[in-house]
Parts: sequence; structure tokens; C-alpha cells
Amino acid sequence: MTGSGRRSSARSRIKSKTDANEDGRLRNAGDHRRNTSRDHTSLRLLNVNIKMLLGFTVFTFFIIWFLINRLVNPDQEPETPRVITPFPAPKLMDLPMFQGEHKESLYWGTYRPHVYLGIRARTPRSLVAGLMWLGVKDGRYHLRHVCQDSDELSKYGWTRHNGRDFGHQLLVDQDLTLETSFLKSKGDGSGYGGDWALRLDLQSEESRWNNDMQRTGYLFFYVADEDGNALSLGRDMFDIHESSLLAIGSRADIGGWQLHLKGMESLEVHYSGFRTPHIHNLSDLVLENLAAQAAMFNRLQLSDTSVSSPNILVFQISARIPFKADIAFVSGTGVKTSRVEERLSSLTGTSLTSLLKEKQSEFDAKFENCFKMAAKLDSESVVVGKAAIGNMLGGIGYFYGQSKVSLPKNTKLKNHDNFLLYWPAELYTAVPSRPFFPRGFLWDEGFHQLLIWRWDVRICLDILGHWLDLMNTDGWIPREQILGAEALSKVPEEFVLQHPTNGNPPTLFLVLRELIYAIKKNKFTATESNEISSFLERALVRLEAWFQWFNTTQSGKEMSSYFWHGRDTTTIRELNPKTLSSGLDDYPRASHPSEEERHLDLRCWMLLAVDSLHSIAELFESSSEHKKEYGSTATLLSDFKFLISFILILHTELI
Ligand SMILES: *[C@@H]1O[C@H](CO)[C@@H](O)[C@H](O)[C@H]1NC(C)=O
Ligand SMILES: *[C@@H]1O[C@H](CO)[C@@H](O)[C@H](O)[C@H]1NC(C)=O
Repeated sequence: MTGSGRRSSARSRIKSKTDANEDGRLRNAGDHRRNTSRDHTSLRLLNVNIKMLLGFTVFTFFIIWFLINRLVNPDQEPETPRVITPFPAPKLMDLPMFQGEHKESLYWGTYRPHVYLGIRARTPRSLVAGLMWLGVKDGRYHLRHVCQDSDELSKYGWTRHNGRDFGHQLLVDQDLTLETSFLKSKGDGSGYGGDWALRLDLQSEESRWNNDMQRTGYLFFYVADEDGNALSLGRDMFDIHESSLLAIGSRADIGGWQLHLKGMESLEVHYSGFRTPHIHNLSDLVLENLAAQAAMFNRLQLSDTSVSSPNILVFQISARIPFKADIAFVSGTGVKTSRVEERLSSLTGTSLTSLLKEKQSEFDAKFENCFKMAAKLDSESVVVGKAAIGNMLGGIGYFYGQSKVSLPKNTKLKNHDNFLLYWPAELYTAVPSRPFFPRGFLWDEGFHQLLIWRWDVRICLDILGHWLDLMNTDGWIPREQILGAEALSKVPEEFVLQHPTNGNPPTLFLVLRELIYAIKKNKFTATESNEISSFLERALVRLEAWFQWFNTTQSGKEMSSYFWHGRDTTTIRELNPKTLSSGLDDYPRASHPSEEERHLDLRCWMLLAVDSLHSIAELFESSSEHKKEYGSTATLLSDFKFLISFILILHTELI
């Protein structure tokens, strides 16, 4: 019974494909015939029979030629394979709640979690900015930029970050201590998305103890335009007291912009300009430039040269440690009302100090309000708690690109690639790890959101919306999102391809269920409640498709049994082949993967999913037909007696 249900639904999927393919074509061919025959009849009324016969012959010939051609050469006019066809429903990210002020308020951010400090906007080809510095280890200099364990920083991470307009990070590299503070503001006259500022504060152990031992610290701050727009250098690079302007440029999204540097101490600035679309290996460009200078002139500084119309400018900021440098980015410049001077002075120096203090207390108050820890925990634990939420929010990234999807078995393509490209897509998401996994992972995201919705439900919905919009027409979502060259540069070859036969736990239901519960308990403001409801209402058809995808493709032989498909049955290197797609990579399962397996964890996920669907359907009193089915499936899957009899059967079979 179960099996036939599954099969019929699989069949209906194949059928709809056939409809789209062949009916469409035949209909076109038919139209063509009608037109031709009409022409013929009107031209030669007398020869109507002969002409019709001829026309018919020509038509038949055409059809036969067409069919033969298709059989021999099936990929002549390639259809978009189902696996890379987006789910045919309105996108969540097109909801009004994600436009306007919301969208603008999240435009700039520390959305490059794979670098120690990186800023970009939530747009496919952004202006990006970032920081590098020279660390010293065993008497040698090392350039730090991309988060990697081999740098052996004794610590780095956000001590606080509110996900929107403030963050403070502490990085310890041998005896160097670097603090980076990020602040965003939308002042009078700012362009789209507003302005932002960074305070960089470099100290060292030695300089604290011994003033004679003072040494020079080297920071490198860069801006790069992914759109290829040319950047211009500020007026006088060498006298920072005369002018703080480092760089200017202009973009379609934000208008004119300026980048300024201000510091209390005397800062020495050098620069280098490059033109390349490859921003992912900027560290190499900087290293090459520094190495050439060191070899030629025996000095540690950038060349103070630039190619013409550079799209990348790197500024070296050197000074005696300890020193502080403020970097301010102002947008919407170049018009009379842009008030650049006022905005700059509020984003640097003592004004920046007090803004940062304010933001820090706001963060602390919100933290206490959200998680109510002060009464329960000692102050050290609270510091850890703040860092935990700070790193979760500070690790949120924005990515744009196309996943590579392995070919479904029966696909034939002209090119000999072993993959298909998913449609170009944006993803705004938290990431599991900045050095190792600085990209979106479907199953991790549900857990991340359990924390994030409590902090900022709009950020949470925005992330969920991006993920659900990545669903294909079968109801499948690629598990690991490797979007864009920067993301790809961090992934070993063998993990790049996403397999459309394999699922990943639908953890997003964890947070959806909590949201529904919180709505019922009136935990949100009226506006928030309305937004969450309209989100759920639009999400429902995608969530249903997601559930159906699991319920059909990952089901097992026995009724209401499921197993993770895609385990390696041929490996001779593993006693217990891994089940990466389940999220529980090396959880002990059957030593010999087979169709007989029944994975309890997946069955639990199915219960969570169908139970959540049931609650959402209830919330909107949607068609009782579906609701009933969800209800009964949920009852079945949560029936312990049934589960136990199920296990007993399994045991009896084994005995
Ligand atoms: C899930 O699949 C089973 C087996 O095919 C079927 O009996 C059940 O109705 C499905 N559940 C839903 C909610 O579609
Ligand atoms: C950067 O990467 C591109 C493409 O991956 C490569 O062609 C180029 O040589 C690299 N540049 C440097 C300086 O390594």
C-alpha cells in the first residue's frame, strides 16, 4: 500500500515532465501545420487535393524527421533539467516585509565571515572591504587575512555583535592584540545603506611592558569593487594630517563614496592599486607586491603605485605600536547636501568612541533582556554567552553564485561536465565555522536560527526565506551552499558537488515550530506577528513540497520507515560507511548500507516536519484535506506502540 502510493506519486512527477516536454512541442508543430495548410488552400484553391496531400506528406516528413532527430540527438534543444528548475511558487524574498527599509537596514555588514575582518553589501557584486596585517612568528612576518587555523591565532572572534550595526572583535596573534570595532550609521545625507566606520586598535605585550622595545605594526586595509568600477586615490596619500581621504569611487547602488582614515598617532600610509576580477586571492597580490619591494629596496612597504583604473586599492597603515586608526566609509557623496564633513567627524575620533560605547551598552541590555542570564550565571559565563551570540550574528555572511549539482543518472548533456549549475542565487546565512566552513549548510541553519530568532526575528526570517527560495521544483534544497569564487576557494574538490538524491535534515522546521508556538503565546508585537504569519502562509507550499520530497524519495521498504539515501555501499575504507547527508556523519548505522535500513533519526525529522505542517495548516485553516493527512501522519509517526512493534518486527526478522 505504502509502496504503491510512493510509486504513483513518483509516476505523477514523471508524467508532468512528459507533459511539459512533448505536449508543448507537438502543439507547436500542430500550429505550424495549421498555418502552412491555410496558406496553401488560400493560394491554390483548385489544386486543393493535391496540395493537401503534398502538405500532409511534407508535414509527416517533418514530424518523422523531428522524432528521429530527437531520438538520435536528444540534447538538441536541451530542456532545463528538473533538478535545476526553481520551485514554481512566489519567492519568499519578494514579500513586502523584506523590501524597503528592512532591506536597506541590512545592506552593509560584516558579511565575509571567512576573513578576519571583511565588509560587503548584500548585493551580488558589491564593493568589498577587508583587513590584513603582518603577524610575527619565530622572527618571520606572516600576512593574516583569511581565517585559518594554521595562522595559530590564540584567539579571535566577536565579543559582541548585534547582526545589524555594531560589532566588536578581539584577535590575538602571538604578542599582538588587535581589536576591531564595526559601526554602521544612516546619517542625514548618506547614500543607500548608510555609512560605516571601523576602529582598529593594535597593541602588543612588549609595548605594554617596555617602551624601548616599541616596534612597528603593519595593517593593510583594502577596498575592491566586484563590479569592476574604477577607484581613485585620495589627494595626498602621504600627509594624513592634511587630508584623511584614502579613496573615492562611485557605484550605481550607493552613489559617490569616500573612504577616510583618521588616527591620533602619526600613521604612515602606503598603497598599491590592482585591477583584477579575482578578489579571492588578494592576499597573493599583496604578498607579491611586498616581496618585490623587500627584494628591491629592502623595506616593508607597498609600492605606492597603481595600474590605471584599479578596481582594488590596498592601503598599508604602519605606526609604532600601540596605535589606533579609524576608517570611515561615507556614501551618497558628491552632492551639496551630503554633509560629508559632519558625517566623518561623527564616525571618527571621540565621537566614534562614544557611539561605540552606546552600542555596547545597548547590546548588553538587549542580551540580558533576551536571555536573562545575569541572575543565573556568573559574569564570566555571561561574557561567554555574549561571545556565543556575537559570533553567531557576526558570522552571518552573504553569498552569491551557483551550486554545482551532480548529474541525475539519466541525464545526457552535450558538454562532458559531470555537473549541472544551479540557478544563480543569493544566500544570506549564518555559517558553522569561519575557518573551516564559512558558507551555508542547510542542516546547521535550523540550529543557528533557534538562537537568532530570539535575538532578531526579522534577520531570522530573512535567512529562512533565502534558504527556502533555493528549493528546486522537486522540493529539494542543496545541502552545502558553495556560492562564488571566495566560497569555492575554501572547499576541497570532492565536496563541491551536491547530490539531488540525498537529503539533509529539514531542521528549519525546528525554528518554524518555535515561531508558531511563540505566535500562539503572543510573544511578538502585532507587526512581527503579522509578518511571521504572512511568511508562513507563503512558505507553506514550499514546506509541503519539502516534506513530500522526503516522504517519497527517502522512504524505506516498511510502512512509515525512512532511511538516508546515498550511503556508500562500495567503500572498503570504512567499517561503517559515513552518512554525511544525515548531519550525524559517523553515527553508527548498518555496516552494509542497503534499502532495508530504517533510520530512526530521519523518522523523527519526518515527525517534526509533518507536525509543523499540521500546525501551520491549522494556523491558516487551510484545506482540511491536507490538514487531516498531516494530522494522521503525525499521529502515526508519534505512536510509540507502533514504533516498538516496528522494532520488534525488525528483531524477529534478524533472529
Ligand atoms: C507520506 O507517505 C506515506 C507513504 O506513502 C503516506 O501514507 C502518507 O500519507 C504520506 N504523508 C503525507 C502527509 O503526505
Ligand atoms: C588568482 O586566481 C586566478 C584564478 O583563480 C589566477 O588566474 C591568478 O593567477 C591568481 N593570482 C595570483 C596572484 O595568484
